[in-house]
Amino acid sequence: MIISVQNRLGGVGKTTIAVHIAYCLASSGDRVLLLDSDPQGSSLDWAAAREQQPPFSVLGLDRPTIHRDIEPSAENYDYVIIDGAPRTSELVRSGIIAADLVVIPVQPSPYDVWASEETVNLIREASVFKEKLKAVFVINRKVVNTASGRDVVEALSCYKIPVLKAQRKSKGSFCRKCSNRKDGDGS
Ligand SMILES: Nc1ncnc2c1ncn2[C@@H]1O[C@H](COP(=O)(O)OP(=O)(O)O)[C@@H](O)[C@H]1O
Ligand SMILES: [Mg+2]
Repeated sequence: MIISVQNRLGGVGKTTIAVHIAYCLASSGDRVLLLDSDPQGSSLDWAAAREQQPPFSVLGLDRPTIHRDIEPSAENYDYVIIDGAPRTSELVRSGIIAADLVVIPVQPSPYDVWASEETVNLIREASVFKEKLKAVFVINRKVVNTASGRDVVEALSCYKIPVLKAQRKSKGSFCRKCSNRKDGDGS
């Protein structure tokens, strides 16, 4: 299965969520490949910064031919997780066409909801010739004890794409943990 984490907006949590999905699946014993499609290479940097090898493979592939190039590698894994690139629509389009499931991280802000429209449109285009393509929103950086999570679910309903019930809270520890090279886990 190919899970592609995509949003043309930068800084919404694509890399964070892609790494966490990869880590969770690999920890359950699945063979996982994390494919970094962002020329910035944050997933590759994360893997390189670790003292221990991550329990999954990490590859960089920032060409707009991901949907074609991924096939031979995908056969060797139970899951391929694509960490999406911001902005470049060719890379995002290719990462969407490659997928069985597109996960779209959004932060609970109206700007994120509006700016997700471009990504949603690319998914709609791809669905025309890939009928089984599925997509879900995941709310990232929800601030606890506020109505922001609920409001954003309502605002996203206009796109007719399901929103995952599980919302990721804003965690101050993320940046610290990412920069701690001795970390044994994916967070
Ligand atoms: N749930 C969260 N809580 C706190 N910080 C987060 C969370 N998700 C992501 N971040 C931080 O937000 C920044 C952008 O996240 P990143 O995953 O790199 O986004 P993208 O890949 O979409 O550009 C990073 O500094 C990351 O550590
Ligand atoms: Mg990223």
